[in-house]
Amino acid sequence: MTGADVQAAEARRCCVAAYESEWARLLLGDALHPGGLALTLRAGAWLSLGPDTRLLDVASGRGASAIALAREYGCSVHGIDLSEESVAAAKQAAEDAGLSGLVSFAVGDAEKLEAGDGEFDAVLCECAFCTFPGKAEAASEFARVLKPGGRIALSDITRDGELPPELDTLLGWVACLADARPLDEYVSFLGSAGFHGFVQERHDQALTKFVSGVKLKLLGLEVLARVGKAPVPLDEVVQGKQLAKSAAACIRHGQLGYALIGATAPDGSGPCTT
Ligand SMILES: C[S@@+](CC[C@H](N)C(=O)[O-])C[C@H]1O[C@@H](n2cnc3c(N)ncnc32)[C@H](O)[C@@H]1O
Repeated sequence: MTGADVQAAEARRCCVAAYESEWARLLLGDALHPGGLALTLRAGAWLSLGPDTRLLDVASGRGASAIALAREYGCSVHGIDLSEESVAAAKQAAEDAGLSGLVSFAVGDAEKLEAGDGEFDAVLCECAFCTFPGKAEAASEFARVLKPGGRIALSDITRDGELPPELDTLLGWVACLADARPLDEYVSFLGSAGFHGFVQERHDQALTKFVSGVKLKLLGLEVLARVGKAPVPLDEVVQGKQLAKSAAACIRHGQLGYALIGATAPDGSGPCTT
């Protein structure tokens, strides 16, 4: 194993631990991305989902998007996530929603999908691609598992320029910031995997709102932590507040944003290797 492999494994492990934690539940709720389920449904419309389509939700978290899309469009959805705990929670949520006939979940790695070639009509990946150490590998996998002409919707944090040192850390990586890329780079990863016909939408306001909501919840948690009544330690709340404050400043300065990208899979020739 090289040093880069060890770093990548550590980044994956921390990301999984963070999003299955009590912290994520408290601060983010079930839809773990800016724009919430409204933006998910917009992505679903771009994907032309319907009762005959089979969607793969990559890094499906606790299943909120998969369930919302199956309910709205009647499509079947398979969600995969590296976190066993999140997959178990997602299965339970699908059962509670009476949708376990349409929606399934399994533990899996975005960079090495277990699905067969051309198994899906559509792929969704929300606020997770930025955390994958192997972005090119994941993009190739998305192309491989899609039918010719299938569609992808990818929404993610965008980053332009250097971030302050406190965000350029492992915690910043896990918070989807440190390895976020400019919009053009995401397009480039997908383009190199053979995707074409791009649509790009900026949703920077969604990130502003998301971070404001997190800041507000952290203030509440700080009050509780100071009287020993928060389910998380005070020093972690304070660290979270600093991260959120710094992220909010970067959003104001146009260094961080959020975007939705849609694209069409290669026509039968498989991912481009050149
Ligand atoms: C910010 S959350 C987004 C979850 C979900 N897409 C949503 O928007 O609600 C990031 C998710 O990516 C998952 N994840 C991180 N690396 C992964 C990988 N290599 N393969 C599959 N899932 C991964 C984490 O476990 C976590 O659930």
